[in-house]
Amino acid sequence: MRIELTVRDQEDMKTLATTLSKRLFPGFVLCLEGDLGAGKTTFTKYLGKGMGITDTINSPTFTILKIYEHDLPLYHMDVYRLDGIGADYDLEEYIYADGVCVIEWYHHIYDSLPDDKLIIDIAIRGATERHLTIEGTGVYEDIVKALDR
Ligand SMILES: Nc1ncnc2c1ncn2[C@@H]1O[C@H](COP(=O)(O)OP(=O)(O)O)[C@@H](O)[C@H]1O
Ligand SMILES: [Mg+2]
Repeated sequence: MRIELTVRDQEDMKTLATTLSKRLFPGFVLCLEGDLGAGKTTFTKYLGKGMGITDTINSPTFTILKIYEHDLPLYHMDVYRLDGIGADYDLEEYIYADGVCVIEWYHHIYDSLPDDKLIIDIAIRGATERHLTIEGTGVYEDIVKALDR
């Protein structure tokens, strides 16, 4: 299942992330793609807020992984720098775990990802407008439907 959405502004992005935050489950894998500044980290911040996480969520670009312990833990990765390195820093320990795993630049570790996952591709259309392609297989199909509007 695959849908395309136009997101007007950051508030609109927040609405979408909040909707998704109510449908997460242990082992959830969310893959994000999009140019620098597209809004991958911003989306994750809103998702975390929707999950009830009160810690400040900021970019894991330099650390690769940030862990937010919570009822449903959030594992936030930015694997941009792992491209071509081959090593996966034991990230699979978090990808196949009982939390929610959000991976920015997921293509860089594609082989380490499960077959079923939710993928959101964010394209920049203007200062605040974004075009989203959302794709999900298996248990994620219903989630894609829930995000449609
Ligand atoms: N609709 C929108 N959704 C997300 N971010 C937006 C939007 N409109 C403007 N922005 C801005 O774009 C930037 C996105 O940055 P960031 O989330 O760090 O991107 P990425 O992680 O994809 O590099 C932020 O400065 C944010 O305020
Ligand atoms: Mg980012």
